[in-house]
Amino acid sequence: MSETFYVTTPIYYVNARPHLGHVYTTLVADSLAMFKRQRGIDTFLLTGTDEHGISIERAAAARGIPVKQHVDEIVDEFKAAFAKFNVRFDRWIRTTDDYHESAVQELWRVLEERGHIYKGDYEGWFCGYCNEYRDVEQDVDNPLCPLHDRPLDRVAEESYFFRLSNFQAPLIELYDSRPDFVQPDARRNEVRSFVAGGLKDLSISRVSVKWGIPVPNDPKHTIYVWLDALSNYITALGWGNDRYKEFERYWPALHLVGKDILRFHTVYWPAFLMGAGIELPRQVFAHGMWLSGGRKMSKTLGNTVDLAVLHAHFAPDMIRYFVLREMSFGQDGGFTYEALIDRVNSDLADGLGNLASRTLTMIKNYFGGQPPRRFAVGADRDEMRNAIEQAKARFHEEYDALNFSRAIEAAWAGIARIDKFITDNQPWKLAKDSSARDRLEEVIATAYEGLRHVVLLTAPVLPETTLEIWGQMGLNGEPLKINPDESKWGEPLDASTIDLISPAFPKLNKEKIMAEIEDQKERPQAAQQPAEHATTKEQEVASPLGATQAAAPAVADKISIDDFVKVELRAATVLEAERVPKSDRLLRLIVDLGEAEPRQLLAGIAEHYAPEDVIGRKIIVVANLAPRKLRGLESNGMLLAASVGEDGKPVLATFTEDVPNGARLK
Ligand code: MSP
Repeated sequence: MSETFYVTTPIYYVNARPHLGHVYTTLVADSLAMFKRQRGIDTFLLTGTDEHGISIERAAAARGIPVKQHVDEIVDEFKAAFAKFNVRFDRWIRTTDDYHESAVQELWRVLEERGHIYKGDYEGWFCGYCNEYRDVEQDVDNPLCPLHDRPLDRVAEESYFFRLSNFQAPLIELYDSRPDFVQPDARRNEVRSFVAGGLKDLSISRVSVKWGIPVPNDPKHTIYVWLDALSNYITALGWGNDRYKEFERYWPALHLVGKDILRFHTVYWPAFLMGAGIELPRQVFAHGMWLSGGRKMSKTLGNTVDLAVLHAHFAPDMIRYFVLREMSFGQDGGFTYEALIDRVNSDLADGLGNLASRTLTMIKNYFGGQPPRRFAVGADRDEMRNAIEQAKARFHEEYDALNFSRAIEAAWAGIARIDKFITDNQPWKLAKDSSARDRLEEVIATAYEGLRHVVLLTAPVLPETTLEIWGQMGLNGEPLKINPDESKWGEPLDASTIDLISPAFPKLNKEKIMAEIEDQKERPQAAQQPAEHATTKEQEVASPLGATQAAAPAVADKISIDDFVKVELRAATVLEAERVPKSDRLLRLIVDLGEAEPRQLLAGIAEHYAPEDVIGRKIIVVANLAPRKLRGLESNGMLLAASVGEDGKPVLATFTEDVPNGARLK
């Protein structure tokens, strides 16, 4: 039987729009799947959406639309977000799919038959965003979820329970006998000590939640959303249903998850599987979080990186490369646009891109575009061949161990070696000396051959651009379909004449892009357009994210009064106003908020209001917003404006009666 590989991503909640964090796990899984397929391994990549549960029910209610309509819309956004990166998944599971729903009920029946489920009463606190029960200090009246800063729900109702407490010993045995089951080691230790501390039985049904899968034979109960969601990994292959038939072929899986959902995957999930007598996953690898402002990037906290802004400035391959290279897989990493631009410029434009253009340009200039295949003999040839073989071996080893960043470093060591070889041999001088023609051929043939191997190697990291470079090199086929380990140094090639050479990665202008991003952050979402230099390499998809974002109404959940009072809205008068130099959109305002000193704030309204239009106007300001720098100027607050029409034209909020500066709105 041929080797198979099954990799999964978490299935994403459809209570909010996709952001960089979601895209991250999917890009990693996709790049890993490409790596395996390229090496001839029969690979299956599963991703999808987690569509049941109380927070999704509430998100739909807040929009005033049926839950199914809400989930369909957000699923389309997730699909569009992944299509933008051309993610090559084999199946997209939705937990609202019929075959999944009936298979989850089948799993319930099996667990019940095997004596792992009983009926009781549950009383406690529940976070609808984590879908997790939370232990809370006795004397707190309105506790908040420590992860989401949102109020917890008090739950007191009849519930079915899973006998999780019976699985403490088998789980400890699992972690100890299969140290690779949970990775990295730090995560295994964390989960092991959690389990060693004792396990309580788990409430696995809710009477007060309607949006979900009914418990077989007791439909007033809805199956706990994590039991429903975790099962996706087997139902998608056909376990418990007739729709698919791939369970035998692909199970067990490598589950890639964020460390935020470690416990569900390494405690509950193996316990459910053990209970049902199903083989356990191959591994659960919990990666770190992208942080923004020091906290996990999450829609609930409102600190995500907007995909529309990212795509407006960076080609999909640049983003994919950055997330794989910048984050040590398993550790947290902070995201900044500056770091992304620096990586693109140093590694892609100056690194791979430059190597490709200089090599191909020399072939065009010195050999009429036909790549030479005369290789040097002896030490010179061996050294270059060895350097590339070494880069390939290390890349393979590190990638297989999910050390993506180190694998990429190895490939880039190969690039640096070829660059040095070119510089040391100065082919531009050899080209002027007709007696050095053979040597010139050897040097260029070696550089071209090195480039060919590097392009094959990095195809899972830069799938779109390596295909483009491959074509420019005059080579047939697709790098992703050629196994780099089987492609030999100096093997015969059928290369056509090199003709069109265009830089694979144009150098990015950091200052300009940063200024545009700052401007865009201020701009209402509907008005966001790709910046003028948005790269042409971006793939267009049937439903590009930008368009979906403009069309779909914002997804908002209900907030409590506690959330509202956190926002300090105050009346103010504009004392001074002027345009911010080199910005079309920003006005610098000095406003009187009834404080000891007037404040400076920046407002993205210059396209619609001249400075003289706003001087003397009464406005409303969010007074307790953390200060922010835009174009080197500090903004201490935000003025309120309605966003009107297709282009999101701002219209300033004001009062029709006299209000003193500093008066609070509540
Ligand atoms: N629906 C559950 C998962 C069920 S799996 C059976 C869920 N969904 S989620 O939409 O909240 O997405 C969680 C996953 O998205 C994380 O585990 C991680 O893979 C990814 N990320 C979300 N935010 C992230 C960061 N800030 N950084 C990195 N990955 C992040 O939990």
